[in-house]
Amino acid sequence: MPVNAEFPEKLQCLFEPGRYKVLYGGRGGAKSWGVARALLILGAQRPLRVLCAREIQKSIEDSVHQLLKDQIRDLGLEDFYQVLNTEVRGKNGSLFIFAGLKHNIGNIKSKEGVDIVWVEEARTVSKTSWETLIPTIRKEGSEIWITFNPGLEEDETYQRFVRTPPAGAVVQKINWSDNPWFPEVLKAEKDDLKARDEDAYLNVWEGFCKQTLDGAVYASEIRAATEGGRITRVPYDASKPVHTIWDLGWADNTSIWFAQAVGFEFRLIDYLQDCQKPLSHYLQKLQERGYVYGTDWLPHDAQAKQMGSGRSVEELMRAAGRTVRIVPRLSLADGINAARTVFGKCWFDDEKTADGLQCLRHYRYELDEDKKTFKRTPLHDWASHGSDAFRYFAVAMEEPRAERERKLKTRRAGGWMGA
Ligand SMILES: Nc1ncnc2c1ncn2[C@@H]1O[C@H](COP(=O)(O)OP(=O)(O)OP(=O)(O)O)[C@@H](O)[C@H]1O
Ligand SMILES: [Mg+2]
Repeated sequence: MPVNAEFPEKLQCLFEPGRYKVLYGGRGGAKSWGVARALLILGAQRPLRVLCAREIQKSIEDSVHQLLKDQIRDLGLEDFYQVLNTEVRGKNGSLFIFAGLKHNIGNIKSKEGVDIVWVEEARTVSKTSWETLIPTIRKEGSEIWITFNPGLEEDETYQRFVRTPPAGAVVQKINWSDNPWFPEVLKAEKDDLKARDEDAYLNVWEGFCKQTLDGAVYASEIRAATEGGRITRVPYDASKPVHTIWDLGWADNTSIWFAQAVGFEFRLIDYLQDCQKPLSHYLQKLQERGYVYGTDWLPHDAQAKQMGSGRSVEELMRAAGRTVRIVPRLSLADGINAARTVFGKCWFDDEKTADGLQCLRHYRYELDEDKKTFKRTPLHDWASHGSDAFRYFAVAMEEPRAERERKLKTRRAGGWMGA
């Protein structure tokens, strides 16, 4: 089916075979339009199964479904493609499906037959998501297309595909200046930001990484850990128990840090996050890791009875033979302070805690647009769950010391009284 469409020079790679095609850069570089059009054209030439993915897709509105629909019309392919609520079908059997990597990827049975997966807005895709997705795209000649605007240099996607790309990957930086159809409205926005904030401009429009995220809660702590070489290989010490510290969620993430106290330092040796999974799933994952466990620290909401079982997470975990304690209640601000205090003593395994570190790097105070200042509380988003669990870790690790001090005080008091 002949279709008349033009593409920026840098997108020609989409029409040549290749396992990885990585397109990244500032806003308005014609990445999304280009990829959508290329996929629709290829899908009209031969039957293709395309998975359109992103890290979080709560509904089809979050996906590129609408974009594809618009491009089908623009390309004059309405007679060829049928746009359904959750998929797009071509007359030749081509099929476009949509999924969030974090929430639904496990349920997509047909993904093994996928010819091309397009991961859009891939900046914050976690290490776990990449490691889950990539091996399932295994059909002969299958391709992985990635589009994103860079954020932090340390982001998993940037490291994996730009810093040290897989062999044979085509990696293209595309900016507004590569887009022959760069619209006037965007140009006005671009010029405005350039005049106001050069650093922000370089990130948003020129596609350079940011040094730190605006409002990042633990920016200086993370920097100190990096400079101090404390984000490195941190092996499990079998002579010490592993404590786990949990933040609980159902639709949201459940996040678990694995920590060992060795001398004056804390070693964060592992991290686990998942969502929409029952408690038994996490207990199994804990077992599979084969550590010798100490205490499982749970947040207060672990004491609430659950619908269905009528028992609380705390009770269920005790019944499973685990040693459970509830993290002392502390305000958010005090918890963040505790985390800052403890941070300097923490060592992180760079591989096993990568997803947790990504949360800590992206945990940020929300910008109050009106006042142009940051709000007092951090944003509730994908990064906040792992960061909440880290905060509980800090509070929990302080607790034995606080307890010892309390006991000591009581004993001293007893001594006075008894003397
Ligand atoms: N092939 C094309 N033909 C006509 N106009 C185009 C084409 N590609 C892009 N444009 C124009 O450029 C604009 C920006 O393109 P697009 O949204 O694809 O950029 P992007 O790189 O995905 O940007 P962002 O990083 O902000 O997501 C589009 O809204 C459209 O106006
Ligand atoms: Mg885009």
